[in-house]
Amino acid sequence: MKARKNRQWRLAARPSGEVAVSDFQWVEEPVRPLAGGELLVRNAYLSLDPTNRVWMNAAPSYLPAVEIGEIMRGFALGVVEESRHDDFAPGDIVQGILGWQDYAISTGHAVSKVLRLSVPLDAHFGLFGHIGLTAYFGLIDIGKPVPGETLVVSAAAGAVGSLVGQIGKIKGCRVVGIAGSDEKCSWITGELGFDAAINYRKGSVIRGLMRHCPGGIDVYFDNVGGETLDAVLRFINLKARIALCGMVAQYNTGKPLSGPSYLANAINQRARLEGFIVMDYYDRAEEAIDALAGWYAEGRIKYRVDIVDGLEHAPEALVRLFHGQNQGKLIVKISEEPAR
Ligand SMILES: NC(=O)c1ccc[n+]([C@@H]2O[C@H](COP(=O)([O-])OP(=O)(O)OC[C@H]3O[C@@H](n4cnc5c(N)ncnc54)[C@H](OP(=O)(O)O)[C@@H]3O)[C@@H](O)[C@H]2O)c1
Repeated sequence: MKARKNRQWRLAARPSGEVAVSDFQWVEEPVRPLAGGELLVRNAYLSLDPTNRVWMNAAPSYLPAVEIGEIMRGFALGVVEESRHDDFAPGDIVQGILGWQDYAISTGHAVSKVLRLSVPLDAHFGLFGHIGLTAYFGLIDIGKPVPGETLVVSAAAGAVGSLVGQIGKIKGCRVVGIAGSDEKCSWITGELGFDAAINYRKGSVIRGLMRHCPGGIDVYFDNVGGETLDAVLRFINLKARIALCGMVAQYNTGKPLSGPSYLANAINQRARLEGFIVMDYYDRAEEAIDALAGWYAEGRIKYRVDIVDGLEHAPEALVRLFHGQNQGKLIVKISEEPAR
């Protein structure tokens, strides 16, 4: 039988600032035969995430750096085409860190079967999977929202942020989103039910917070860091909770941004700032998926996916993410959806 061709994006260079298409190299090679204990997955969807840029740095983060010449790391979802692994059979739909490529050979480590919920497969990136778990546990476990409190979320029209705001509404909070365009602000207030939105590219975030958070801020879900985090710190209430989820404002700067000037307010207000990584919650995934699936079925939560067609476009799509040009969860369609 003729070997399958595997198209891949490998890391060609470490970006010193903004990620560029030239940081990736396109390679084509045949898929090798499986060894015992391995499975072969045909990737259907690849998730593009801000954290992809973090993994391209030489310094390790919560995962080791991707090495030059290595297949670019990425979450993907696909179908098992061959298996020599006891826990997986051909036809299983799986997701995990399967890389920027057509086919992944895996030992099954960090690969899980997709729960067959009656939703489109892209929902496993837009609503469930690592995105939904991040929004759910970051807000519920760390933000600990209480009805009547004010919740602020940044990158609010993005994959994680849009879910956070909607969960905040379900939990009875007043929700204010910060996003980078009028269209995004209209979407989160109009369709998603946020109480207010601030377009940070158009005016001062500080003035926006003064206007929309007259009673101060109890919970801040931080996706961007930098000046936005600093602005929020000025307005936090006593015992505020700040969930440090991501710092997308500094991923492309090539160096850390200088620290927030208003951090002392966390002392005055006895606030808690807590970082988290979604992987720490994987053993509680079912709890989040049950809650999200229930709210989705009741029409209380919506998600939006931005699907780019073709693995060949993955690098340019990743660049778009850092210009705020994605409209919801950014996904690359690599091949046809497996039959379910
Ligand atoms: N801790 C964890 O385990 C975990 C897991 C998943 C994601 N995250 C983090 O969650 C955050 C959101 O991720 P996502 O997957 O939902 O992505 P996303 O929000 O769908 O897309 C990223 C958005 O960030 C905004 N952005 C890009 N560059 C920016 C900059 N320099 N300053 C301010 N905003 C900028 C853009 O929106 P605007 O148009 O609004 O600027 C862009 O659309 C990221 O920081 C990511 O690293 C963390």
